[in-house]
Amino acid sequence: MVAGEVSTLARWAVDEGWNPGLGDLDAVWDLQPAAFVALRQGSNLVGGGTILDYGGGFGFMGLFIVEPAWRGRGLGGRLWTWRRDRLHERLGSSGVIGMDGVVALEPFYARGGFIPAYRNIRMAGLASGPAERGEDSVVTLAHGDLDRFAVAEAATFPVAREAFWTRWLAREGVQTVGLLRGDTWAAFGVLRPCVEGFKLGPVVADDPDAARMVVSDLLARIEGSPVQWDVPEANPAAMVMARDFGLVESFACSRMYLGRIPSVDTRRLYGVASFEFG
Ligand SMILES: CC(C)(COP(=O)(O)OP(=O)(O)OC[C@H]1O[C@@H](n2cnc3c(N)ncnc32)[C@H](O)[C@@H]1OP(=O)(O)O)[C@@H](O)C(=O)NCCC(=O)NCCS
Repeated sequence: MVAGEVSTLARWAVDEGWNPGLGDLDAVWDLQPAAFVALRQGSNLVGGGTILDYGGGFGFMGLFIVEPAWRGRGLGGRLWTWRRDRLHERLGSSGVIGMDGVVALEPFYARGGFIPAYRNIRMAGLASGPAERGEDSVVTLAHGDLDRFAVAEAATFPVAREAFWTRWLAREGVQTVGLLRGDTWAAFGVLRPCVEGFKLGPVVADDPDAARMVVSDLLARIEGSPVQWDVPEANPAAMVMARDFGLVESFACSRMYLGRIPSVDTRRLYGVASFEFG
């Protein structure tokens, strides 16, 4: 894609109801312009998608969209296969590709070699307060603490992705907090403004109490606003917590992998960063 096409892809994502974060696509463009793939008819953009190479032999496919007027003619299939093959080439022969695919397309992705691992459920509603108080303190992360966040997050993701976080967390309006127990970080959470309301995620925590503290702190900051929290069904405590906060299931994706299914600690993962980028 050329830079101007990224905003069209973002607009299509809004039209699909995916509600991207306001800085999401710019952060990833800044990281890796080659992640954005255009499908053109003549000089017109008619489809697109991302293929983000995180390094370490892991990549993520997202934002797979064909403009409505061009659907159902085999173009999407060609675009998807091209993206999969190109990303695989970039990652090398032992590379692993992840995606959060809409459930309706799971059979198509399975035909393309992807294996479902678990579902991620979009829990949505209005943010409720107040922030829970305890002996441990929730603090807004300073620049120097972000490295610690990236290390903790890496346990819940197939590879470490510091360069991604440097850009993602720096976007306007993104709030990142951590829970300090003594001098140990027990949880981290991120909130970002979206086209509609906010998204909560990732949330990474040592235990449910720690997760609840960061979630309640972030939700209290936006009390009454629409919020979406993408929860891995593989962490039942996270699902229960999202319901306790009054959120209900609004959408689901199937986390699928091509290649060896990575071992990630889903017990510590209470919220996914993004359906588009993992
Ligand atoms: C998904 C999408 C990109 C497909 O584009 P397209 O040009 O219509 O795709 P094609 O005509 O090449 O079909 C590709 C495959 O998807 C399948 N497919 C397309 N739409 C589908 C749907 N709504 N439900 C189930 N399968 C579907 C087709 O059967 C085909 O599979 P096959 O080749 O094995 O028979 C397009 O429908 C779209 O933009 N949808 C909205 C965004 C979206 O949901 N993207 C997927 C996010 S994970």
